[in-house]
Amino acid sequence: MKILVVGKGGREQALVRALSESGSKPEIFCFPGSEAIFELAKPVDADGLHSLVEWMKGNGIDLCVAGEESYLVKDEGLANLCELAGIPCWGPPKEAAQLEASKEFAKVFMQRHGIPTGGATGTETLEEARAAIAGVYPTVLKFDGLAAGKGVAVCADEASAEEFLHEVCTERRFGAGRVLVEECLVGPEVSIFAAVSGGEYVVFTPARDYKRIGEGDEGANTGGMGAVASRVLIDADLLARIEKEIVKPTVDGLVKDELPYCGFLYFGLMLTADGPKIIEYNCRFGDPECQAVMPLVSGDLATFCLEGAKGSLNADLLAFDEGWSVCVILASAGYPASSRSGDQISGLGDVEGARVYHSGTKIQDGGWVTNGGRVLAVVAGGESREEAVEKAHAEAGKVDFPGSQRRADIGRMHFE
Ligand code: AMP
Ligand code: GLY
Repeated sequence: MKILVVGKGGREQALVRALSESGSKPEIFCFPGSEAIFELAKPVDADGLHSLVEWMKGNGIDLCVAGEESYLVKDEGLANLCELAGIPCWGPPKEAAQLEASKEFAKVFMQRHGIPTGGATGTETLEEARAAIAGVYPTVLKFDGLAAGKGVAVCADEASAEEFLHEVCTERRFGAGRVLVEECLVGPEVSIFAAVSGGEYVVFTPARDYKRIGEGDEGANTGGMGAVASRVLIDADLLARIEKEIVKPTVDGLVKDELPYCGFLYFGLMLTADGPKIIEYNCRFGDPECQAVMPLVSGDLATFCLEGAKGSLNADLLAFDEGWSVCVILASAGYPASSRSGDQISGLGDVEGARVYHSGTKIQDGGWVTNGGRVLAVVAGGESREEAVEKAHAEAGKVDFPGSQRRADIGRMHFE
């Protein structure tokens, strides 16, 4: 089996590794990939989506796996182009990927299908947004398009709301687009991942990510500074409730709305005092949750995704290990406001008994250097959370580069 994985980050490296460890032993290609990913997957020389799909056709690719969201909604859409070319794609068509690409589309979908979520109003102008906030703080403001995780602000007061609205409505930091004004929900967050195909779903190992840059969940939102995953992260009754109230109605809603969906679907949830509520969908696996979850998945992920892309899910192809997995991110100086490239990374060769995934690195003068905001993910497992936490932090501590940032409370906070 020949598989092409689309994306270039740590999530894609974790996917490539899990696919390459599949019993079916597929041959793996990657676009655009990274130097770290090229250790397991061959690079593809393509220029844009059309030439990529042409390349897949010409090279007998059996399955395209979408790692990153942007390609799903670019041009005609990665999955749509694959379909035209007759190539099975693990990733949804552009129409269904609006669940991630438009916060307002997702909110209206949730409301239409009675899926528990916070109240919200879509607004067009600065004045409409101010009127929708109506002086109630904290409030949550969301730019209605893809913004690489930077389009959401939880605003404690009028000053921070005005600052965000100025950036979005006046400076147009993310381009033209509406703003969703949303009720602020309170509670621990959990990320649930389902593999979805043809109205069926399989729930993967639940995870929690740590979105703020600083310890104690202080400071700016980031793409995620670490994650913890386990089958027992939440108890079985709560998981059953989430499936019944959120996962199943979503999958059924997609069928009812004639939005065929195939691929991973990520449910970002808040466990509020009124029960679990959804704060967002993503049409892909989480990053860095994928790096934490994939080491707990065994069996034949490649065949599972291929069959899923052809319309049927066979959960028997996979096994989800017991135990815990903890992923600690090392970010570069200045992240998330900016990032610094070219800092030399030391200690990678000293890591033992943990996996290292590269989010933003490159090889320079024969050694690894930083090349982005999030740089590396160090992932360790254990029978208990404590064991996985100790190991992940101990191994992450062996790796360093000038200005590196790492949270010491990953896997600890929200448990102790
Ligand atoms: P999103 O990109 O929608 O996941 O939002 C990023 C982060 O903002 C979430 O992980 C939450 O921490 C926070 N957030 C989003 N929506 C809400 C909400 N309605 N209430 C409170 N926090 C939220
Ligand atoms: N870890 C958050 C995300 O992947 O969106």
